[in-house]
Amino acid sequence: MASIATFLCLALVSFTVVQVAVSSDPNILTDYVLPPNTTVIDANYFTYTGVRSIVNATYPTKFTVVKASLKEFPGLLGQSVSYAILEFPVGSINPLHIHSRATELLFVVAGSLQVGFVDTTNTLFSQKLETGDMFVFPKGLVHFQYNSNSTEPALAVSAFGSASAGTQSIANSVFNSTIYEGILAESFKTTADVIEKIESGLKS
Ligand SMILES: *[C@@H]1O[C@H](CO)[C@@H](O)[C@H](O)[C@H]1NC(C)=O
Ligand SMILES: *[C@@H]1O[C@H](CO)[C@@H](O)[C@H](O)[C@H]1NC(C)=O
Ligand SMILES: *[C@@H]1O[C@H](CO)[C@@H](O)[C@H](O)[C@H]1NC(C)=O
Ligand SMILES: *[C@@H]1O[C@H](CO)[C@@H](O)[C@H](O)[C@H]1NC(C)=O
Repeated sequence: MASIATFLCLALVSFTVVQVAVSSDPNILTDYVLPPNTTVIDANYFTYTGVRSIVNATYPTKFTVVKASLKEFPGLLGQSVSYAILEFPVGSINPLHIHSRATELLFVVAGSLQVGFVDTTNTLFSQKLETGDMFVFPKGLVHFQYNSNSTEPALAVSAFGSASAGTQSIANSVFNSTIYEGILAESFKTTADVIEKIESGLKS
């Protein structure tokens, strides 16, 4: 008869397995994953040219992300990596967000950025990055990037440990979804009119 200890061991092992399974993209058992109904592929499947558009372009007028993730680049399926190119005109911000499925490794290619994340004890880790610097945002933690320089735009490349990092905007998921106002007011210890004011800024 299986002892309680055995049962506990099994439970622990399966918990660990589940944790591993949800903490990164699933491992594939082939070199790469073919697109549905396809038997023949060539190098084009492993190539993404969608970021060429920013090469000789001028900076946009507001914060802009150009992604190379599973959605844009199907060849990433099963490979557990993706990129985002972040363009920050003067004074622009990449607002608070999380990536539920990936750690982010940000590399400042031009300009400078003020960045930060908050851990689960609500401690803020903030840093001023110069061109050439890198910063790692641990998986799932709330973070931001801000170009505080008043004359220079900034450009950064972020690598993710998932083909589909699971980006979720804090402002949108909380104040631009259909969560009841009463729930929001209670959660933020405020009144419905304050919630409505915040919501109206996002919904307009
Ligand atoms: C794959 O081919 C089958 C049979 O022709 C078809 O029913 C199915 O919709 C196709 N799937 C995709 C993803 O194209
Ligand atoms: C960018 O400009 C250079 C110089 O004009 C040109 O050689 C290059 O092909 C351009 N690249 C892209 C991706 O448009
Ligand atoms: C903005 O960036 C320029 C170029 O790197 C630098 O000379 C200047 O000191 C920066 N200004 C501020 C306010 O950080
Ligand atoms: C709020 O949600 C609407 C509908 O999904 C969307 O069109 C709009 O862009 C969102 N607002 C912001 C600031 O992202």
